[in-house]
Amino acid sequence: KQARIIGAPTDYGANRRGVDMGPSAIRYAGLADQLEDAGVSCTDVGDVTAPPAETQDADKRVPEEGNAKFVEEIEAVSHELAEEVEATIAGGATPLVVGGDHSVAIGSLRGAAADADIGTVWFDAHADLNAPSTSPSGNVHGMPLAAALGHRDFAGVDWATAPRLNPENVVWVGLRSVDDQEAADVRDSAGTAFTMSDIDEHGIDEITERAMAIASDGVDGVHVSLDLDWLDPNEAPGVGTPVRGGVTYREAHRAMEIVAEHDREHDSLRSMEAVEVNPILDEHNETAHLATELAASALGKRILGRE
Ligand code: ARG
Ligand code: MN
Ligand code: MN
Ligand code: MN
Repeated sequence: KQARIIGAPTDYGANRRGVDMGPSAIRYAGLADQLEDAGVSCTDVGDVTAPPAETQDADKRVPEEGNAKFVEEIEAVSHELAEEVEATIAGGATPLVVGGDHSVAIGSLRGAAADADIGTVWFDAHADLNAPSTSPSGNVHGMPLAAALGHRDFAGVDWATAPRLNPENVVWVGLRSVDDQEAADVRDSAGTAFTMSDIDEHGIDEITERAMAIASDGVDGVHVSLDLDWLDPNEAPGVGTPVRGGVTYREAHRAMEIVAEHDREHDSLRSMEAVEVNPILDEHNETAHLATELAASALGKRILGRE
């Protein structure tokens, strides 16, 4: 397997400053070495362009619905990132996007869907299905799935020309913090939501297997989106929107191993991202390190290696 690391150092989509240093922290934690150890040959293309938020106009809004911060900046990042992701897939490698806040998923999904129909498995405490008109915060990291599914609030923004992310192939895993309107929108959506209760009831193996099966059903591939706040804050303290009661270190690895197994059997993993690592809030770069380990598991790392 070949991976191409693409950094997306943004914090436009999040309240807590510092998540723009995520790519740097994840690289410093040894991402490339972890992947090489896993038998994945990897190249790092560096970062897409993302000027510091301080140099941009914080009041930039979506034209129609005035409740989404830094949309123009996020649009520019999405554009460049989508091109990198698309080119990576065209070249036969797996894009591994490192964030940055979760708004970078708009670009990842767009790139992964440029030439294909895709599904996604969203490993996250949050559903990220808010739209500008429903978001309580105005932070676009809570909106990437609404954006990728072509929500009307984003009319006029260039990503609104919908990528081929099939609503039926959207699967959430590990939800435990969903806003009221957002919960109704998740229930009304064609996607499948597995909450922490579902993981407690059925176990991480069964839920992840079902998630990969649903996300990959009838499409060309799956984008795996890993928000580090999916894990319990005891394991992953370096995130901007921690929610207690998340998955454990071992459950997270197990889930990523199941992603890798599914990919070996079905060639299903089209692209992946690890987002929301905030080194300012982290403890000794632990969360960044966790991101490197989980990416390696998803891309095929095994304790005893492979023959
Ligand atoms: N639902 C909340 C919001 O819309 C939190 C979103 C958190 N998203 C994330 N990618 N960490 O603001
Ligand atoms: Mn989250
Ligand atoms: Mn998220
Ligand atoms: Mn199977």
